[in-house]
Amino acid sequence: MISQESIQQIQSRIDIVEIVGSFIKLKKRGANYLGLCPFHNEKTPSFTVSPSKEIYKCFGCGKSGNSISFLMEAEKYSYVEALRWLAAKYNVEIEESETSPEFKQQQQVADSLYIINNFAQKYFTDALLNSEEGQDIALSYLKERGFREEIINKFQLGYNSEARDGFTKAALASQYSLEYLQKTGLVNVREGHAYDNYRGRIIFPIHNQSGKVLGFGARIIKKNDKAPKYINTPENEIYVKSKILYGSYFARQAIDKADECLLVEGYTDVVSLHQAGVENVVASGGTSLTPDQLRLIKKYTNNLTIIYDGDGAGIKAALRGLDLALEESLNVKLVLIPDGEDPDSYVNKVGTAQFINFVNENKKDFILFQLGIALKDAGNDSTKKSVVVNQIAETISKINKTEDFTKQQDYIKQCSEILKIEESGLHALVNKFIREKVNKEETRVNRDQRFAEESSSVEQYNEADTDVKALFNKDEIHEQAMIRSLLEFGLKNWNEKLKVAEYIFKEIEENQLEELIDNKELIRVMQTYKAWFDAGIEPTAKNFLYHEDQKMSSLVVSIMDFNYEISPKWKEHFEGFIATREDLFAEEVFSTLNYLKLRKIKRLMDENQRDLEKSTVAEDQMILVQTHQHLKQMEIELTKQLGTVIFR
Ligand code: GTP
Ligand code: MN
Repeated sequence: MISQESIQQIQSRIDIVEIVGSFIKLKKRGANYLGLCPFHNEKTPSFTVSPSKEIYKCFGCGKSGNSISFLMEAEKYSYVEALRWLAAKYNVEIEESETSPEFKQQQQVADSLYIINNFAQKYFTDALLNSEEGQDIALSYLKERGFREEIINKFQLGYNSEARDGFTKAALASQYSLEYLQKTGLVNVREGHAYDNYRGRIIFPIHNQSGKVLGFGARIIKKNDKAPKYINTPENEIYVKSKILYGSYFARQAIDKADECLLVEGYTDVVSLHQAGVENVVASGGTSLTPDQLRLIKKYTNNLTIIYDGDGAGIKAALRGLDLALEESLNVKLVLIPDGEDPDSYVNKVGTAQFINFVNENKKDFILFQLGIALKDAGNDSTKKSVVVNQIAETISKINKTEDFTKQQDYIKQCSEILKIEESGLHALVNKFIREKVNKEETRVNRDQRFAEESSSVEQYNEADTDVKALFNKDEIHEQAMIRSLLEFGLKNWNEKLKVAEYIFKEIEENQLEELIDNKELIRVMQTYKAWFDAGIEPTAKNFLYHEDQKMSSLVVSIMDFNYEISPKWKEHFEGFIATREDLFAEEVFSTLNYLKLRKIKRLMDENQRDLEKSTVAEDQMILVQTHQHLKQMEIELTKQLGTVIFR
């Protein structure tokens, strides 16, 4: 874990303009900087960066955050990865606290394996391009298949000679340890002799998210029934098959842009499609998708399109485990390439335009497709058929997020038609599976709670829901305004005796917080502010900006006001002519506070009214009427006060 001191050091050096500026072009506009939003497509810039507040906000898509969340969003980094990136940029030496010796050891092994892989990749590429054997056997083979030099270079393809131990000798001569060479799967030892594992094969390096080589896939060139077509790196500290998607390093930007990820089976499919200009594509290696791989895809898009050859066994493997995709709200579509072709051969045959056209016109829904296959397998066997009904009901029950409700209803309708059963029957069955799942989850939640309470705040940061919009509802604008004025003006003087913050906390007693403010997160911000204030810290929005609790930090960022910041030049010109929020802060504090009080009174009146309607006892009614009059009086009073100030 990165030590708190290191985190603080990194934060103190952060220059948000520089960081965001290394991803997009920024222009100075007044006190802020403006550019095209990297998170959505736009032609006129609405992405604003405030150097003094150290935050960004897009007025087009609403995304906002600090430097760390920018990196997390733009580069799909985890919190820790973002910190490491910043540390490297600002030359901060990261101090690891509490790292176990085992972890350090593993880290060292991983580093060594990366270094060896890097050496190997260069060796193999050199052999492909510059050795006589490489050119004659491998390069000519690749060219014959239609791969051009630029794509060979981009994917860093290589070749290893048929000779016994050329690579092994070169690696040992460069002082790499035999033990680690074996771990990478590049070298085997038999009867005391070390020799190359991939002989006479085309080498496909497999890259991690930042472009480092994790391992290799090696394809045989000469037909040989005894040898496997592909050999892959064995599992080791860095090559974890279940977490790898071939091509993801080269595809991530295109996936983000297209908002769709194409999934194919093989290395050659990925490379060929890239060459054809279709870059949002990754390969699974022909096995079924793992939860980790699905999560990797979901970082970039919710739309997954699987493109497999129609007759291959691969398609069934691909469908396995996809129920998980539904739980994650991924939209999965399926395209089958006809006539014994695979995406590589097909795109070479028909060209890019026709390939894209084919994919778009032949996307099938994966649930309906699965049902089709299962029904065909079941034939007329009624027992098998009822198994199919149960299976499809369970699959549909996995889509139980509220936002996907209509999708679920659609599936029930369509599937019951295909199955020729009553829609209501399938409905009931789906509900049964949902209930079972809820029960299971409740048990799990209870169990997990203990662990959650003990988990560190850094983990919280990673897991937290950063979708700020989901944190608000419409009625909360005034609650936000209240917190905003506390954060921005809290340290100003309210009168001779009190600061604004003290005034606010005097007006809202701690035990009233929940009556005035609905949003629990906003209440937490208030409480945190108060705790800091009482402890003698002078809190500003910046204290919240890098708060280890991501939810709180992104909430604060999202309610901060950009327009309030006026360019110094502009200010100079118009000094005295325009009133800024800064000038009118007292009115703002007063009116936001009073609005919340007014809202509370209105709610009490409504409640009172309902009681009155229900009540039949005369004495009770009397009291309720009196209460009403009392509340009404308070309402008039407050409204009058509000009327005397500029109400926003
Ligand atoms: P080409 O035949 O050169 O076009 O390669 P391909 O990628 O089209 O191969 P294929 O369709 O036969 O297989 C798809 C993917 O499955 C490959 O890219 C590999 O990832 C994997 N695969 C195929 N054969 C083997 C094998 O013998 N061993 C292993 N481990 N993986 C294989
Ligand atoms: Mn192929």
